[in-house]
Amino acid sequence: MIAYRIKQFVDGITARPLDNGERATVDTILDDRLRPLFYGMNTGDQRHCFKVYNCGMLLWQRAAANSNLSAEDIPYYRGLLQRCCLLHDVGRGNEMSPFKKAIAVFLRKCVPGYTKSLAEKAKNKSLGSIGRICYRHHMHGQIGGELLNSLGYEAEGSIVALHHCRDINIISQLDKKKQQILQILKKADSMH
Ligand SMILES: [Fe+2]
Repeated sequence: MIAYRIKQFVDGITARPLDNGERATVDTILDDRLRPLFYGMNTGDQRHCFKVYNCGMLLWQRAAANSNLSAEDIPYYRGLLQRCCLLHDVGRGNEMSPFKKAIAVFLRKCVPGYTKSLAEKAKNKSLGSIGRICYRHHMHGQIGGELLNSLGYEAEGSIVALHHCRDINIISQLDKKKQQILQILKKADSMH
């Protein structure tokens, strides 16, 4: 886990911006309302989400071949997975730099209960920069989910909101097809 976190940190501070071809891919997948969310993320998060998208598409090929999705379902769920991969960390906001993320991860490891309650309290009141960092780090799934819901992308919002959730009772509230998309997203995310 420590090696994974170090890799994430190094990837974050050394991330190169998307090139023209990669931006064209994003622009094809995301419509006018979703594109500003993607490009509003910092370079490290854009790069991470693009890697998760590429990985998600590879995992999708295997999953779709072995799933019971109908021919009609396949394009819809493929598009849903693409949007979720590209936007899964949008709730972090552009102020969440790799350094702030490292602080949040460190605090979570050292004082998990304190940072969790600080994050929950910081949702409704200003608790300074540490409160904001904890809030953005702990709650970014829910924040991103609510943002997508508010734009009318409820399917995407319901999946993005749970991309760090481990509670099977909560996950099982999604229908089976969305659960499959969530599993692919989580797997791709864990690999980058
Ligand atoms: Fe995330």
